Amino acid sequence: MSNVSFPSNFVWGAATAAYQIEGAWNEDGKGESIWDRFSHTPGKITNGDTGDVACDHYHRYPEDIALMRQIGLKGYRFSVSWPRVLPAGFGRVNLAGLGYYDRLVDSLLAANIEPFITLHHWDLPQAIWERGGWINRDNLSFFADYAALMAKHLGDRIKRWTTFNEPSVIAIDGYVSGEHAPGVKNDWKMARQVIHNLMVAHGLAVQAIRAAAPGLEVGIVLSQWGVDPSSDEPSDIAAANHIWNSRETAFLHPIFRGYYHPEMVDAVGDQMPEVKSGDFALISQKLDFLGINSYSRSVISAQGQIAPIPGSEYTEMGWEVCAPAFRRLLNRINQNYSLPPVYITENGASFKDVVSPDGKIHDERRIDYLRQHFTQVRLAMQDGVDVRGYFVWSLIDNFEWGHGNTKPFGLIQTDYDTLKRTMKDSGEWYQQVIASNSVDQQQYKSV
Ligand code: FCB
Repeated sequence: MSNVSFPSNFVWGAATAAYQIEGAWNEDGKGESIWDRFSHTPGKITNGDTGDVACDHYHRYPEDIALMRQIGLKGYRFSVSWPRVLPAGFGRVNLAGLGYYDRLVDSLLAANIEPFITLHHWDLPQAIWERGGWINRDNLSFFADYAALMAKHLGDRIKRWTTFNEPSVIAIDGYVSGEHAPGVKNDWKMARQVIHNLMVAHGLAVQAIRAAAPGLEVGIVLSQWGVDPSSDEPSDIAAANHIWNSRETAFLHPIFRGYYHPEMVDAVGDQMPEVKSGDFALISQKLDFLGINSYSRSVISAQGQIAPIPGSEYTEMGWEVCAPAFRRLLNRINQNYSLPPVYITENGASFKDVVSPDGKIHDERRIDYLRQHFTQVRLAMQDGVDVRGYFVWSLIDNFEWGHGNTKPFGLIQTDYDTLKRTMKDSGEWYQQVIASNSVDQQQYKSV
């Protein structure tokens, strides 16, 4: 294989999230989010880092859009900070917050970059958390009202809308590991109710967006890791299938089939969430696209998970690099569900970067990771998966949640002292991929 080409209308993009890049945490009338509160709590984030300033994208978005143009991005996936537009999560609208997203979207369109909007990438208004967060069902309608507000406001300029980013992570990291806001630990029962209620909120928001601005495309972004058996032994294969069915289907099954996977129901037993009548109809409304975020896989044997995998490369996140697992994952989802078109809404790698004496960042490992993953996704497309676009995580190094500023994922480096941006070799390489609409299999030579 020398050169792998993509369809001419393929959307090459990059992704970010509001709390990870915007900064301006208390400017122009923005309300507090649970991530503001969490990062301000001593001991929660590596090095005591916060998103108070982050990449200062709130003020520097014109510079960042100029860099997106330099790379040649066709699409840009960003999220809206809910408390920036609705400081309490409902009620009074902060016009200055809406104004910021107007400017951002107008500048993207002027640069010929298609905005892909995500309504919730984890920065829940603190006031909503104080009213019971995702457990209180009134709050689910507040999310739908917020979705309608945004669709009325930006629906004339943005076509593709995503309700939630990775609802599984909201529930598991927020309520079980406690490594994310709101920082609740070991409450599986609550986490399962949050999973269910997030899907109900998604369903209400889909309806609200469609009612507010007909003709928009609406989807959700799910985090899906491949699950591979450790060998061809039937017992290892059965163990891996069980993990897939009882865990990885938590969102796919309700959204694309309208019920929980029976193996999951069995495994969870009396800890299943409370389901109200009508929930599954709301949850399983037809979507216009599915966003998949994927970074790695798990390897399962009859004895349990195997890690690390001898001989495998690992990123700074401790995630195994295994691009062929991405192709298998996409095929598995495509074969098990009747899917709408798919976008890869996040994929990328954190590796430590060094600035060379020539002032450049020769991030060959990141290039290699992306090259392998682009290629495997193209193969999955040839297998029959209808992938329409690919958003690299991330455009720019940013605040990586509990890890603070210590995990660089960007095509562009952020110097957190000066806020200076530097294009990495991976950004230049991606520019070549986009310009040629193909992935060259040769080792990249920095230019
Ligand atoms: C995903 C998140 C994104 C970023 C990447 C590394 O789970 O959606 O915000 O943290 O992981």
